[in-house]
Amino acid sequence: VVFSPLLFIFAAKTLSPYISAVSTLAIASCGEKNDNQLLVYTEAGFAPYEFVYKNEIVGVDIEIMKAVADKIGVELDVQDTNFDAIIGGVQTGKVNAGAAGITITAERLESVDFSQPYTQTEQYVILPADNTSVKFVEDLAGKNIGVQQGTTSDLMVEELIANGKMTGAILTPYNTPALAAAGIGTKIDAVVTDKLTAEIIINNNAGLQAFPLTNSDGSPVAEIEKYGICVAKGNDELLAIINEVL
Ligand code: ARG
Repeated sequence: VVFSPLLFIFAAKTLSPYISAVSTLAIASCGEKNDNQLLVYTEAGFAPYEFVYKNEIVGVDIEIMKAVADKIGVELDVQDTNFDAIIGGVQTGKVNAGAAGITITAERLESVDFSQPYTQTEQYVILPADNTSVKFVEDLAGKNIGVQQGTTSDLMVEELIANGKMTGAILTPYNTPALAAAGIGTKIDAVVTDKLTAEIIINNNAGLQAFPLTNSDGSPVAEIEKYGICVAKGNDELLAIINEVL
């Protein structure tokens, strides 16, 4: 199955009929895990992978998990939580899976198992549209940087500050990338987040621009990241079905 994030960007922007044709899920659910459902954690502030549209959580990850639930023959229950609670919830068996544009990292692989990768991304920086002084990661020294808490962006900026690549920068974690971007111009100078999410944020805000974060010598600041769906370690049965759907 091919999932096109661009379709979701288009749908979100134009309210195209496509969006009403996709399966949607009630946000309000307080389900506990049971055998008749696939219980999934997401963090729904991350378009186009998961976002709220007309009170429903929709997006690429939701479509994937809907197809997984259909294949198993159970109901899908998607619950919105803080991004940094997803891996722990999956690891402890509170939920069956985590689908949230989650980058597969060595550290996370110590806690959960991941599906095969289904998309890739890189780190982007969001800045005021009229900014001309910040071009490279070194230019973010001394700046106030906003990130979504617990994301690879958060971890990367923390490391860059520690390594002296962004000397004196102050890192502020937010619940969503959009909330971080809303601080630009007041508390925040720049936001670091994944590519497509950055592009959607700037599409909705003419006062902002976004581009890939690179070193001044042209080398990438971070490796290309790949997204996977996560399950509890050893849940090979569910993982196999997810991989089949992907
Ligand atoms: N890919 C990044 C990470 O794994 C950001 C994911 C944020 N996802 C979300 N649904 N808010 O850390």
